Amino acid sequence: MIKKIVLCTDLSDNSKQAFSIAKDIASKYEAQIILVAVVTDLAETALFSVIEQPNLISEDVQKKILEEVKKDLDKLANEIGYKKVTPLVLEGSESVHAAIVNYAKNNNIDLIVMSSNGRAGLRRLILGSVSEKVLRESRIPVLIVPCE
Ligand SMILES: Nc1ncnc2c1ncn2[C@@H]1O[C@H](COP(=O)(O)OP(=O)(O)OP(=O)(O)O)[C@@H](O)[C@H]1O
Ligand SMILES: [Mg+2]
Repeated sequence: MIKKIVLCTDLSDNSKQAFSIAKDIASKYEAQIILVAVVTDLAETALFSVIEQPNLISEDVQKKILEEVKKDLDKLANEIGYKKVTPLVLEGSESVHAAIVNYAKNNNIDLIVMSSNGRAGLRRLILGSVSEKVLRESRIPVLIVPCE
């Protein structure tokens, strides 16, 4: 029985390609979708890629970045158009794939759904590095949706 699904997004259009399958599966089982975005390196996040040393980002700016991510994630959660979606920003110092795998392990997640590619979107790569590492390291079933 599938009760809880982690759907991963880096807020990119590519990541949205996994949304409809996640919604189909969730609907069938009346499962909850937790829409997860991991923020580790704040310097790489969103508009602030010009800042080279993340530890120089003031707390105020960090707060602003997280607020923006939360806002974008809420919007995406609405776009899914499913009644049981919980947006969740995971912050931390671990790598993105480890944050996803550990969250799933510690929260009774039944299935991880993600797109094969994300923000970087290099199509010559069959799998992006995050999706590849989640697939390698997760002991929970992973569904990877190939990016068009
Ligand atoms: N920060 C993140 N938070 C949540 N999910 C993510 C994050 N980064 C990637 N993902 C998930 O992994 C999928 C594939 O992205 P991935 O980062 O592996 O590929 P990429 O960005 O194209 O290449 P790269 O390996 O250069 O990052 C995304 O569509 C998304 O589902
Ligand atoms: Mg990426």
